[in-house]
Amino acid sequence: MILVTGGAGFIGANFVLDWLGQSDEPVVNLDKLTYAGNPHNFASLAGDARHVFVQGDIGDAALVEGLLARHAPRAIVNFAAESHVDRSIHGPEDFIQTNVVGTFRLLEAARHYWSALPATQKEAFRFLHVSTDEVYGTLSPTDPAFTEETTVEPNSPYSASKAASDHLVRAWHHTYGLPVLTTNCSNNYGPLHFPEKLIPLVIINALAGKDLPIYGDGLQVRDWLYVKDHCSAIRRVLQAGRPGETYNIGGHNEKTNIGIVKTICALLDELRPRADGRPYESQITHVKDRPGHDRRYAIDAGKIERELGWRPAETFETGIRKTVQWYLDHPEWAAQVQSGAYREWVAKHYAG
Ligand code: NAD
Ligand code: DAU
Repeated sequence: MILVTGGAGFIGANFVLDWLGQSDEPVVNLDKLTYAGNPHNFASLAGDARHVFVQGDIGDAALVEGLLARHAPRAIVNFAAESHVDRSIHGPEDFIQTNVVGTFRLLEAARHYWSALPATQKEAFRFLHVSTDEVYGTLSPTDPAFTEETTVEPNSPYSASKAASDHLVRAWHHTYGLPVLTTNCSNNYGPLHFPEKLIPLVIINALAGKDLPIYGDGLQVRDWLYVKDHCSAIRRVLQAGRPGETYNIGGHNEKTNIGIVKTICALLDELRPRADGRPYESQITHVKDRPGHDRRYAIDAGKIERELGWRPAETFETGIRKTVQWYLDHPEWAAQVQSGAYREWVAKHYAG
């Protein structure tokens, strides 16, 4: 079996669902259930003995050591993190606790467990750390895309905490020999995406007749990857990645934020036209920019493509259409995640 952390969040839940959709290898899913963790994300696994959910913190050493001893996983896949840049600007402390201290504790528990394994299992064990392209900092319009050799220059409390965790993972390999793998992926989108992030926020606000907030001029560029393609890349790295190596993952889909929002509006105009016949674009508003906003991210995924033969299955056009359709088909999911805490965040963050 494998131990997945953060498997109640956006990417982790997609990963667990995809994993059990293609394999009978059980998953122990450890998640603290912060505001971003949602057990409804894996409701379809209720009663499935291959999925064991444990509510808890990756920073709880005794809990993690107990889980490792009891379930004897062959791998750990670490998704657990505080993940939202804007929240890290309002309050960085949780990001340091989970992304830095939590990853440290998880690495230590993994090291103790791995050190005591019999030789064959020790050889086969993997610790896969899921990270982000944001650790590389920002690009100008003409800079080449990030490679695994790009200097790490994080600019937000979130990306700095992720870069710190990446460094810890690297050091646990270099110093202790722990067989680690690190993946640095670009922006994900798809089903189960929490609506504090741009794409689900825009879909949900558009349908509710609310403003579609664009930070600054909206010409910032992100490189988008459909979440199921990120999951397939992680499965491939876990299967064939070389211990100690880092793999960049991306979909070759650089888009401006304003372009993304207009694409979503056009899809909604087609799939769920407004009652008054006006275009959804009329709801776009420009708001104050994010402090320290990175201008452009772009991933060079050449290494994983060449060495592991991974390719994304979706283009941006197919992936974004599936995503918009998923939100149209799951109004109950969208309603359920917009709790009081979510509404408080929106009111605080977009005030004024
Ligand atoms: P998310 O915020 O949707 O989910 C994070 C999950 O981790 C939640 O279920 C939360 O409850 C859980 N969690 C938080 N703190 C925890 C702790 N201390 N112990 C146990 N569980 C805890 O995030 P996501 O978008 O699914 O991202 C998952 C991972 O992928 C993160 O490490 C993130 O940095 C990375 N990543 C995300 C993207 C993206 O576009 N979303 C892109 C590249 C990399
Ligand atoms: O690049 C990978 C990263 O992508 C992940 O590591 C992060 O966990 C993930 O949250 C995401 O970070 P971003 O900051 O790029 O994603 P977000 O959806 O918050 O914002 C995308 C872009 O849209 C960014 O340039 C900010 C802008 N934006 C965002 C929001 C929420 C707006 O213009 N308006 C908004 O209301």
